[in-house]
Amino acid sequence: MHKGWRAPGRVNLIGDHTDYNDGFVLPAAIDLECVVRSAPRTDSQMRVRWLDDENGDRYAEAVRQELALLGRADVGIDAEVTSTVPVGSGLSSSAALEVALAVALCAAADFWLEPTELARVCQRAEQRASGVPCGIMDQLTSVAGRVGHALLIDCRSLEIEPIPIPAELEIVVVHSGLPRALAGSAYAERRAACERTAARLGLEALRDATAEQVTDDPRARHVVSENARVLEAADALRSSDLARLGGLMAASHASLRDDFEVSTPELDALVTELTAAGALGARLTGAGFGGCVVALADREQATEIAARASERYRKSTGMTPTTYLCPAADGAGLLA
Ligand code: GLA
Repeated sequence: MHKGWRAPGRVNLIGDHTDYNDGFVLPAAIDLECVVRSAPRTDSQMRVRWLDDENGDRYAEAVRQELALLGRADVGIDAEVTSTVPVGSGLSSSAALEVALAVALCAAADFWLEPTELARVCQRAEQRASGVPCGIMDQLTSVAGRVGHALLIDCRSLEIEPIPIPAELEIVVVHSGLPRALAGSAYAERRAACERTAARLGLEALRDATAEQVTDDPRARHVVSENARVLEAADALRSSDLARLGGLMAASHASLRDDFEVSTPELDALVTELTAAGALGARLTGAGFGGCVVALADREQATEIAARASERYRKSTGMTPTTYLCPAADGAGLLA
């Protein structure tokens, strides 16, 4: 009998390039998801039919290998995979795929992991399959999302605090139309720079650095200031202080653009247009170098704001943007 397992993509409201520095992030799982319908086989083969993404085999194999290292019995599956998460957009389509497949593989072998362990397995699978030394945010959000909530995650302890998103807020994601070029190599280079600075300061991670220690180092300065902004944003969200939240998103984008240098002129233009059109705040989301921006807007005006900003963006850049309104969703589980 085939069972269906689902796992969502994610959007990060604030806190980018902080997760691999043991820092803080504030993402939400979104209602775009990967679905794996699968049944155990009597042998150890994994037969997957990809209905949307023909590149998934690498990821599937990596997930299976990582689970095997933890002792999962090698029970094969017949599976069919579909996904509504756009590939290569910065909404974590690969994390959704890894998590949904991992859950299906675990279920077939009656092998269960704690949520954080499951996320770690999928993070290692991502690193194995893509070669990118990613952090834990995407996979943990896909595992642990909560409908109507953002997640404040401490990426050192992996402690998670779900924070309700005020009912009047809409999460608007706009894809810039720009594929994420060089994201992999530039990502690895940024991560290495952060680790070098931490080592030079004699710290375990930049999470432990003070603002005074990094005044002359733009990359580290971003990480330290971004961690502070995430904690402040969590506070603003808890108290529905939306103006403060919007200001923090703007400051985050500026820091990613100027200090961490992972933005592009297109992402900058989109952020400017969304803010001018009436969004409470907007910033690039995820690794950068193309992909999506996230904005928060009043629910009643969100569609209108996105349409107006997209039109102006299209005119000034010639790019074709795509808008997604993204209610916060639950993490991975059995398909209802
Ligand atoms: C990618 C990685 C995450 C995180 C973000 C940047 O999405 O997979 O681990 O580092 O970039 O915040």
